[in-house]
Amino acid sequence: SGSLDTLPDETVLVARCRDRQRVTLATDVETVLTHLSPLAKQSLSTTTLRRTSSPTVRRPSQTLQILRLREILLRTMVLVFQNAFRLTTRRFFHATPPVAAIDKLTVTKLAERVNLKDEAVLVRVDLNVPLAKDDVTVTDDTRLRAVVPTTQFLLDQGSKVILMSHFGRPKGQVIETGKNGRLTPVVQPLSDLLGVNLIKTNDCVGEEVEQAVADMKSGDVLLLENTRFHIGETKNDPELSAGLGKLADYFVMDAFGTAHRAHSSTAGVTRHMKLSAAGFLLQKELEFLVTAMNDETMRPRMAVIGGAKVSTKLPVLEKLMDQCDAILLGGAMI
Ligand code: 3PG
Repeated sequence: SGSLDTLPDETVLVARCRDRQRVTLATDVETVLTHLSPLAKQSLSTTTLRRTSSPTVRRPSQTLQILRLREILLRTMVLVFQNAFRLTTRRFFHATPPVAAIDKLTVTKLAERVNLKDEAVLVRVDLNVPLAKDDVTVTDDTRLRAVVPTTQFLLDQGSKVILMSHFGRPKGQVIETGKNGRLTPVVQPLSDLLGVNLIKTNDCVGEEVEQAVADMKSGDVLLLENTRFHIGETKNDPELSAGLGKLADYFVMDAFGTAHRAHSSTAGVTRHMKLSAAGFLLQKELEFLVTAMNDETMRPRMAVIGGAKVSTKLPVLEKLMDQCDAILLGGAMI
């Protein structure tokens, strides 16, 4: 504070206020203190007061520059050593080796264990895609494209693939169109992506569906109607789970976006299967997460979170706050 030119050359006291990062120059401690706010005085420690005596002619501004340079150099050296030490100790004492793969049955291992040719395989996917205002056009087909690898793999095994998904939140009602309606809007884009003639049933359980499955041949793909047209779906209802269980002996879970829900089509149905496995999408996402969250050498760790339905993501955000150095929120989260 004040004019630098009025200060004597011999002695300069520099006080750095932690609250505002302001630098105050004066000739004695008392003067420095009069320039500081009460908060700054509280946080002022002896190490933040420096004295430099220079019998030679050195302007205060030069002295300040030298002090700053020295400080920057010192801080840089400390940071370099701190980081090197932190990384070394993490590597030796804390680091969990990156997990290369999930230790659950994957669709690849399922195919090694069982001959899936001519077998019906029920695959839970997440076709909950956004629609344009016309209620027909899919505006983002990311989730449709994500269905292809597992479906294609099963088709290559000679299986009959039964896809099932929820769509919106119809709460047990049959809604004809719109974001909580029938899965009709995804039929054509998904057929195009898979290169097959996808057949959709009007329900996800019952005689009509069982007959459609019985009529399937190796290489066919069937799409079941919105599972949430049944009120039992979100309640993990045993009866609905058993109805779905009648359709196949093998189940593949590939609905990563719905894997956190214990519903009939994601959880209950597995009790009626000979074997259940993770699809390629689920496997890929889990491997990314497990590796990124367990490897302590991967620091700083930043999470980027987008999407809607913030309330359902709060527990995840709380958990991530413990595990990440920074979290970036975007999209409909803010
Ligand atoms: C999603 O879009 O987040 C998933 O499909 C899950 O949907 P839900 O939040 O309605 O269960």
